[in-house]
Amino acid sequence: MFDLDQPLLDLPKPEAYARLVDQAAALMQGESDPIACAANLCALVYHQLPDLNWCGFYLFDGRELVVGPFQGRPACVRIALDRGVCGAAARTRLTQVVADVHAFPGHIACDPASRSEIVVPLVRQGGLVGVWDVDSPLPGRFGDADRVGMEALCRAWLEATGAGPLPPS
Ligand code: SME
Repeated sequence: MFDLDQPLLDLPKPEAYARLVDQAAALMQGESDPIACAANLCALVYHQLPDLNWCGFYLFDGRELVVGPFQGRPACVRIALDRGVCGAAARTRLTQVVADVHAFPGHIACDPASRSEIVVPLVRQGGLVGVWDVDSPLPGRFGDADRVGMEALCRAWLEATGAGPLPPS
């Protein structure tokens, strides 16, 4: 197992995410169980990246998003596709970067400490699998480098748990 105490804090974001993707791939190596891989990915990201208060999976059950593995405070269990930042990511299939959650119409405040958020849609072979949701107590915590890095982490999870490698997005 690699050294989880090795700090990523001082690295520029692209380099920090490149290392995080390598660490995630190592954690998921040889394992395709989606819940097992999701659980370890949450723990990795939550402990390696600064200024997060929640990160986790909402999995699509064919009707709505249902909370899956996560780190942070207990969260709302089900999110309809027409609600919140998670619903917007699932509906549009585009990553949502929200600098101020209070300014986002319909934002669902699971933890009142959350001030900014990024949500990446998880899509496999054209089908919605769920979303990856990361919250921060800092306003404006996430930018484009985070979008690129989080999308790469999601691709690593989709590749580890799916039938094969996905085309780059
Ligand atoms: N913030 C999300 C709800 C889930 S919690 O953040 C864990 C939203 O508005 O979709």
